[in-house]
Amino acid sequence: MSLVLVTGSSGQVGRAVAASLETAGRSVRRFDLVDGDDLRDAAAVRAATRGCDAIVHAGAIAHDRAGTPDDIVATNVLGTWHVLSGAEQHGVGRIVVFSSAQVFGFAEGEGEPVSLPVDDDHPLLASRPYGMSKRLVEQMCDAWTTRTRITTIVLRPVMILDDEALGHVSEDQAELGAFVHLDDVAAAVELALAAGIEGHVRMTLCGPGRFDTARARRLLGWQPSRSWTR
Ligand SMILES: NC(=O)c1ccc[n+]([C@@H]2O[C@H](COP(=O)([O-])OP(=O)(O)OC[C@H]3O[C@@H](n4cnc5c(N)ncnc54)[C@H](O)[C@@H]3O)[C@@H](O)[C@H]2O)c1
Repeated sequence: MSLVLVTGSSGQVGRAVAASLETAGRSVRRFDLVDGDDLRDAAAVRAATRGCDAIVHAGAIAHDRAGTPDDIVATNVLGTWHVLSGAEQHGVGRIVVFSSAQVFGFAEGEGEPVSLPVDDDHPLLASRPYGMSKRLVEQMCDAWTTRTRITTIVLRPVMILDDEALGHVSEDQAELGAFVHLDDVAAAVELALAAGIEGHVRMTLCGPGRFDTARARRLLGWQPSRSWTR
């Protein structure tokens, strides 16, 4: 699996993932709006998928305050449609897709967890545009795998922090354990590309806390390397 298309390659996650994949010996094709490549442009996305062995789809409007509801749906939902469509057209067999733990519907006061710890079987209750867009992305991936047999591995990180941001996390966030380190996210992507998984799977990525990451541990052998040390 030598050539990987990384969407959102100029973002926080995309930059780290692209660097980590290159360190692991893979070639990376970058795709990001800041470089003029638009996920909303079906032809551009399909062209970018040609010749790739796998795709890491991290491009998105990454929270509710980063765009209008229309922008969020156009970029996240239609953009993912274009990525899946390009993969089908060009025979790409594996896609790692960034969803979010916001699909569960209790980020930033939206609601309360139905049960704790929150695991990957928790109901998907998000109703704000960003969380809803990720629910739709997950369903689309599931349906695409059913029809095409393309493997779609959906990662659901909680808030992603690097070393600097980790130093400024508030006590509340720490008590929730609702963070995952950027390096651990990049490691999960590499594991997902290499794992012998087929079909459609979804898994939460979180540091120690009130989220159960058993599925990522079982399917990928993933372990968060950073914990809250206060
Ligand atoms: N950062 C977090 O805490 C977090 C948590 C959970 C899930 N996620 C998800 O992880 C992924 C990466 O998030 P991030 O933190 O790197 O976000 P980011 O905002 O830093 O990066 C997103 C990138 O997508 C690009 N992009 C936006 N619209 C585009 C378009 N129309 N065409 C092409 N590229 C476009 C942006 O230019 C940006 O570089 C996203 O799918 C996000 O929803 C992030």
